[in-house]
This record gives sequence, C-alpha cells and structure tokens, in this order.
Amino acid sequence: MWWTICYPGEADTVPDAVFAAVRAVVPEAIPVGVRVSGTDWVDDEPSWDIDQTIPFGHAVKQAGADWIDVSSGGVSPKQKIALAPGYQVPLAEAVKQAVGLPTMAVGLITEPAQANAIVANGQADMVALGRAMRYDPRWAWHAAAELGATVEGPPQYWRCLPSGKNAVFGKTNFGAR
Ligand SMILES: Cc1cc2nc3c(=O)[nH]c(=O)nc-3n(C[C@H](O)[C@H](O)[C@H](O)COP(=O)(O)O)c2cc1C
Repeated sequence: MWWTICYPGEADTVPDAVFAAVRAVVPEAIPVGVRVSGTDWVDDEPSWDIDQTIPFGHAVKQAGADWIDVSSGGVSPKQKIALAPGYQVPLAEAVKQAVGLPTMAVGLITEPAQANAIVANGQADMVALGRAMRYDPRWAWHAAAELGATVEGPPQYWRCLPSGKNAVFGKTNFGAR
C-alpha cells in the first residue's frame, strides 16, 4: 500500500509541513511518496519545468519521502504536450538521476515490453499504469505471460491459464481436468 501527496507547489515553498503532517499519521511501515509534475508544458513565464522539479525533488527527499512519482501538468490551456508512448518517462529519468529517490514513471505506458524496458534501462525504478489497466484489468498477468515472469495468483485461479501460459503463477499443482 502507498499514499501519494499531489502538490503543485513552488520549489522554494517545499511542502515540509504537509509531508510531515501526513508522515506523522501514516504508520511507519507504509512508505509515503510524492507525485510531482515534471513540467506544465507551458513555455510562457512563469512556468514550471524540470529545472524547478529537480530542486523540489531534493527537498522532498530531504523531508523524508520514500519515493517520487513524476507526472506532468495537464491543467493549462496554453500547454503544448508532446504526446507519445512514455512521453513523461524522460522527466522521471531526469529526476531519478538528479535526486536519487526511488522513482516512478507514468503516462502512456501500455505495453509489457515497454514497461519492462523503462525499468531495465534504469530510466525509472517502477512504472504505474492507469488507462491500460482499466482496459485490461489482468494486465499484470498478461504481461507476466508475455515476459516469461510469474505473478502470485490465488489457487482458485490456477486452472484458468490457457495452454502455453500455465507458468504464469509459478509452479502450481492441481488435478488435470
Ligand atoms: C488529460 C490528462 C491530464 C492529466 N493531467 C495531470 C496533471 O495535471 N497532473 C498529474 O499528476 N497527472 C495528470 N495526468 C495523469 C497522469 O499523467 C497519469 O499518471 C496518467 O494518466 C497515467 O498514465 P496512463 O493512464 O497513461 O497509464 C493527466 C492525465 C490525462 C489523461
């Protein structure tokens, strides 16, 4: 389980107080992280881009954040978003390299190989999917099948795996019928 604080603040008004207040009431065993906008995609001043995000990331790290999730702002009519698969991943990569917190990449990550490459290439430590999982709630199972990985599945589901994909739940043992 994790909690996210979304905070569209300024780099010099670090949400120490917000973070501290949340951290104080969330049990210690639960990591608390921060979602940031890596850019607002607006060229005009004043604006927000990676040059503000990185100091902000350092500040939330200092405040005790366990991880950082790098999205971008979709809130201004002036925005010019360069939409493409994984379009926010370079923002996560820049934050990960500069800040060093465990970093999550999001946004138009839809394919198992794409998600795997983002982590394998060190662009982010984890990925999160929104729409792709709404479309396919079993995305993680299907990704495991495609990538030759395993996921935990309850015994009630062990029989459901189609032929050729029966290693998705690891080594399972049940009657063949
Ligand atoms: C139209 C639109 C606007 C968005 N605006 C923001 C935003 O301002 N801030 C933010 O953190 N996430 C925003 N998001 C959401 C993130 O990018 C979100 O993590 C993303 O939708 C999840 O990725 P996926 O659904 O492409 O997998 C927006 C998403 C959409 C579709």
